[in-house]
Amino acid sequence: MSKHIRDTFAQCKLEGRPAMITFITAGFPSIEETVPLMLALQKGGVDIIELGMPFSDPIADGPVIQRANTLALENGMNLHKVLELVKLAREKGVKIPIMLMGYYNPIYRFGDKKFVEEAYNAGANGFLLCDLPLEEASHFRSICTSSGMSYIPLVAPSTTNDRLEVLAADADSFIYVVSRMGSTGSTGSLSSNLDELLKRVRSQTGTKPLAVGFGVSTREHFLQIAGIADGVVIGSFLISLINDTPKELREQRVTDYIQEIVGNRPVDISKLVINSEPVHALEGSIEEATNAFMGNGVDKFGEFGGQYIPEILHDCVKELEAAFFAARDDPSFWAEIKSYYPYMGRPSSMHLADRLTEQVGGARIWLKREDLNHTGSHKINNALAQVILAKRMGKTKVIAETGAGQHGVATATAAAKFGLKCTVLMGAEDVRRQALNVFRMKLLGAEVIEVHSGTKTLRDACNEALRTWVTCLHDTHYVLGSATGPHPFPTMVRTFQSVIGREICEEFPKIHPDGKEFPDYVFACIGGGSNCAGTFSHFIPYTQVKLIGVEAAGEGIDTNSHAATLTAGKPGVLHGAKTYILQDSDGQVSETHSISAGLDYPGVGPELASWKASGRATFLYCKDEEALEGFRILSQSEGIIPALESSHAIFKAIEIAKTLPKDKDIVITVSGRGDKDVQHVAELLPKLGPKIGWDLRIDSANQTKC
Ligand SMILES: Cc1ncc(COP(=O)(O)O)c(C=O)c1O
Repeated sequence: MSKHIRDTFAQCKLEGRPAMITFITAGFPSIEETVPLMLALQKGGVDIIELGMPFSDPIADGPVIQRANTLALENGMNLHKVLELVKLAREKGVKIPIMLMGYYNPIYRFGDKKFVEEAYNAGANGFLLCDLPLEEASHFRSICTSSGMSYIPLVAPSTTNDRLEVLAADADSFIYVVSRMGSTGSTGSLSSNLDELLKRVRSQTGTKPLAVGFGVSTREHFLQIAGIADGVVIGSFLISLINDTPKELREQRVTDYIQEIVGNRPVDISKLVINSEPVHALEGSIEEATNAFMGNGVDKFGEFGGQYIPEILHDCVKELEAAFFAARDDPSFWAEIKSYYPYMGRPSSMHLADRLTEQVGGARIWLKREDLNHTGSHKINNALAQVILAKRMGKTKVIAETGAGQHGVATATAAAKFGLKCTVLMGAEDVRRQALNVFRMKLLGAEVIEVHSGTKTLRDACNEALRTWVTCLHDTHYVLGSATGPHPFPTMVRTFQSVIGREICEEFPKIHPDGKEFPDYVFACIGGGSNCAGTFSHFIPYTQVKLIGVEAAGEGIDTNSHAATLTAGKPGVLHGAKTYILQDSDGQVSETHSISAGLDYPGVGPELASWKASGRATFLYCKDEEALEGFRILSQSEGIIPALESSHAIFKAIEIAKTLPKDKDIVITVSGRGDKDVQHVAELLPKLGPKIGWDLRIDSANQTKC
């Protein structure tokens, strides 16, 4: 059906005007109103409708569209219902092209080919996917072309000329030009260098129609764009207008608004025709052209990893990739990091937990003490190295996301040490739960910004950090805190954390009574995976060492209250990478729970996903009360209060140690210290304490006993 989009642009050109394109979210403000609103848009003079497929984690969208997504999901919207709406729209007389716009994960979960075919049959004409750039799109794009659908490439002010050329070759109907760096949203004015941008894009894309979006809201904007492009896209402003208008007036208001934008152009719906001829594959092999341009493509961990990011972020990750690989190969970079080892407390100590070993009565248990690092966890290894990298890149500011606050504190610390301005994004719910760490960050001179979107937790802070980064790339580095995110972050974070595993490897034969070369088991807890990747990566070639990662099973993996992503998740795309994700059957990312905020995340680093696939590491899970038991045992047997995150690994390691003979050796990375958790544990004990027989209330009757 997508010849329809081409015909529409051709017709608009014939009439000497740009195509009017509008975005609305399917299921917003209610499922029943979506089709009437589409009809109202058509009546007002809209030429193409972008129908938003709601997603729980819309990284390219500003607050208005984020809220529309949330509301539509609360209304029960999913991809099956989007298709029903498209079908209904066609039945009710929507004749203009309908493009489906959204994010890749729900489609991936639905099944790419099945979804594209069903969308075609329902009457849709094409796709616009915000997080499927050139690097990742070739498979989906070829499904679109073979199913008769258009795939619309997005270009941004940061898109380079050579990239524009390849993207233009991909465009079978038009190209969407994102007018400014940032997320969707109307700011009242258009970007001042829009003319220049359009000229540059045009110089590379030839006669392909260009439609301009992001920030458009008025007739003046429409006229300004009309002079330089072939299509004008309005999204956020329309969503706000619908939101702010009483239900009974919405359709009329929408028609009137569009009429105002298009200059009261008469609209004759009876003359609209649908060209149902499928779009044919473009001449020449796009696949080949794209591959030739990208060389070896993006580094991946088997099928996991990649760069599932909005085009607008492409520049950021490319700059970072180049800087990181140059630094990694430069001995002076490592010399500089090492010069801060005394500041960080490295090398961190490793020793036998003799009382614990005796108590357990099985394998010997050794502790790698990342809790002794400056700031109290392994997070400083990565934060400090990234801040040094940021300085090398000439950045004067850093941003970071944080959940528990440990990474926020580590980044604020490194930023203070190097004189960089630091802003930490933190979900409003986590700000409430982790008040002490918020205060620590502020003491260190960082600004803490509360994120109020979505679930108001770590994943929303990650979304917001990615959105923020694009607006300030020129002077700001994003210090991502775990082995997650788009390439090169997972590789970079693992590289900076791999000091943990390297030190274990070097130290172990020196401190083992028989000089044994390797431990038999190495344990680490997993949130996003930086502690685990850092602990394991050095051991990957030594297959005699069993690597065991421990996830947070919260209230149990058979409940909806856990964060055991590798155990209970499914492959998908989140925060720029293909990996395991906790998600529902519609591909919406699930809410998670863990006793430890640092493990409370619905994704996991892609490298860990690849270790699960290859079987090189084993992933176990540990419930809240079991972690609390691990917390108690280490505190009372060794006098070490571990972080609740680390307590997960401690509990599981003890379980395994019990089953092993005394000549076996287990190393546990104690990723952080538990001071931050003491208050939380005190609050939790009345609920969880009875499950493990732990009661710390002062018993006045026994007070005088010795
Ligand atoms: C002490 C500690 N351990 C582990 C984690 C989990 O993070 P990751 O899986 O990236 O190591 C956190 C996260 O905040 C943490 O603070």
